[in-house]
Amino acid sequence: MSKVTVKKLSAGKSLQGEVKVPGDKSISHRALILGAMAPGPTRIEGLSMSDAVGSTWTCLRELGVNIVSRAEVTTVSGRGWRGLAQPHKTLDAGGSATSMRLVMGLLASNPVAGTLAGNESLSKRPMGRVAEPLRRMGAIIDMAPGDLPPVEVRGAALNGIDHLSAVASAQLKSSLLIAGVQSMGVTSVTEPCLSRDHTERMLPLFGIPVEREGLKVSVQGGLRMSPARLVVPGDLSSAAFWLVAASLVPGSKVRLAGVGVNPTRSGALEVLQRMGADVRVEPADLGEDAGTEPAARLEVGHAKLSAADVAPEEVPRLIDEIPILALAASLADGISLFRGLGELRHKESNRLEGLAGLLRSLGAKAEASGDDLAIEGVPSLKGASVSASGDHRLAMTALVAGLAAEGETAVDDASCVDASYPGFLKDLSRLGGL
Ligand code: S3P
Repeated sequence: MSKVTVKKLSAGKSLQGEVKVPGDKSISHRALILGAMAPGPTRIEGLSMSDAVGSTWTCLRELGVNIVSRAEVTTVSGRGWRGLAQPHKTLDAGGSATSMRLVMGLLASNPVAGTLAGNESLSKRPMGRVAEPLRRMGAIIDMAPGDLPPVEVRGAALNGIDHLSAVASAQLKSSLLIAGVQSMGVTSVTEPCLSRDHTERMLPLFGIPVEREGLKVSVQGGLRMSPARLVVPGDLSSAAFWLVAASLVPGSKVRLAGVGVNPTRSGALEVLQRMGADVRVEPADLGEDAGTEPAARLEVGHAKLSAADVAPEEVPRLIDEIPILALAASLADGISLFRGLGELRHKESNRLEGLAGLLRSLGAKAEASGDDLAIEGVPSLKGASVSASGDHRLAMTALVAGLAAEGETAVDDASCVDASYPGFLKDLSRLGGL
């Protein structure tokens, strides 16, 4: 599959039904990695089967970690305290920066030497922000010029550090906490504003207490981990595509079961509600292994949307949902302003420029200037043939746009949706969109 064409849902046709979105990608990466560090079997229900999480799985397998998946349950046979095996080949992080950055922390704190490499897109993404503090902890790290992958990590007996981060990055924070668990002393990370806190929530399930004081989070190194049982809630970043799709197509009603609504991730829900979206949120119980990640059942119907402003402090809580929110803004009443989007330039593509260009090619009025994106709503979009620059979130945004845009919208490189949402086209078809 590469090129996929979506037609505007004509009068009388709408999106209807219930979808189970994939397990949360961020939580899935962490569950595999922490499971690999704890001695014994960790049981994970609902792991994301996305390409991105598959990259973490591939890296861990090369480090001697046995992982098996049957139906909904994945079991990781953790190797215990600094117990990873020396890899015999390059660790392939594919297109996943989360895999690369989190595994850097893992390698750094194990007595192994490994090289992490990725695809063309990942090879352009900055790794210095993670390498610099890991080096201060005692790891030896070499990278390509410009602090780009491939990244060679020689692990060592590390010492905890107190790191003040210039960016709110959960990948950076998590990499250091992962290294910190297997270091001497305390490792702390202070962020300019709170990024997703899945690692902090998950570590106690593996027997590692975490202290939080405002924007500073700390772990004590050298404590024994224990294996865990956990359930991964549905990925709100995937659910966001249906929240917007149903909002845009008249007559739609879509239900989404068991979606994670961690407050450090749920900014998009709040922005959509501010825009006037008809989204109902009811708490959902994921069962006895639910852990500490809140989940909800979401129900969304069509609504007339109005413009919204998004402030820089909100951005870390909705960074991955900017493309689909920008599509919603393109068809809303008034002018929306998204500020502080600099980090979007360092995603799977230069997502800030790519997003503005993609929306414009569908007839939207979108302008990126500096770190901001201004969007003036238009009454309707026009279908076109577009490229998503290999970026899964841009591809899904374009496919959702196609449901509301006049005529046909073709996305050239739609197979990239597998990076986060392998069943996207099946779900689109199940809801009546294809
Ligand atoms: C992620 C953190 C965010 C996010 C990415 C997943 C994570 O990246 O955009 O999709 O799982 O930690 P940054 O840490 O670069 O902000």
